[in-house]
Amino acid sequence: MSYTWKNSVEVHHQDCLAFLGNLDDESVDLVYVDPPYNIDVKMGKKNNDIVENYQQWCNEWLRECHRVLKSSGTIYLSVAQDFQHHFKILLEEIGFRWLNDIIWQRSTLNYATKYYYAQMYEPTIFATKNHDNSHTFNLDDVKIPTLHGGTTMKGAGRFSNTGMLTVNDTKNPGDVWNITSASKQNEFVDFQGQKPEKLLERIIKASSNEQDLVVDCFVGSGTTAVVSAMLNRRFAGCELDAEHYKIAVERFKDKFESPLFGQQ
Ligand SMILES: C[S@@+](CC[C@H](N)C(=O)[O-])C[C@H]1O[C@@H](n2cnc3c(N)ncnc32)[C@H](O)[C@@H]1O
Repeated sequence: MSYTWKNSVEVHHQDCLAFLGNLDDESVDLVYVDPPYNIDVKMGKKNNDIVENYQQWCNEWLRECHRVLKSSGTIYLSVAQDFQHHFKILLEEIGFRWLNDIIWQRSTLNYATKYYYAQMYEPTIFATKNHDNSHTFNLDDVKIPTLHGGTTMKGAGRFSNTGMLTVNDTKNPGDVWNITSASKQNEFVDFQGQKPEKLLERIIKASSNEQDLVVDCFVGSGTTAVVSAMLNRRFAGCELDAEHYKIAVERFKDKFESPLFGQQ
């Protein structure tokens, strides 16, 4: 079963390895993945599998992601803190180059415990296929305002022609991203594990260009598909769970096939 929209978005009800196996070598510009976390949260098939099995499975689809990525391509992996170190080693073994651990500071607390500090963030690992900085990275498209609001100042920044000191009014967003959880936003489709559109927006803007191909082989509620289409990127992805596939397709149709589309 598959859903397609305007020859630019396709979502398949399929296993990740079967889906990736159908993609050509070096055909993808950006991979975003948010796989099942293998911790005690019900999210697809791979939860609470023994660590060796989980790692072996991740190794298989990550190698496929490496194969399908163009040399200018990047991969972003949202993972559980519990497996962050495993994934970094795995990425390096496969040939990726690690660049950042992005800390998404959630606005909701999911892991309350009295035995250790509550986990308030989710990591997203950012890595490239190339090792020479020739990957797509549109920093200007994701810069954020500086605190001072871009006013001219004395005593900091660089000199302008007037002799005053000017300071840039935007800056690199850094690797700690404070973004409101999807469950607190209108976009929420009542899907546990739904990532906020703002998170994907920054990733897709920074690491792809219009008409580039974005791939997500763990579609869930379809956040990557929706944001890719909003930003005029092509999208291909898959989801194994029939119920989740349906949620993703319905969410996409509600947004892009509605008679009101384009007027919002
Ligand atoms: C953490 S969720 C993704 C959430 C998504 N990023 C969002 O914003 O809604 C992971 C998804 O991977 C799916 N999944 C698990 N095993 C899979 C497999 N072998 N192939 C494809 N999808 C799979 C699960 O059903 C689940 O919907």
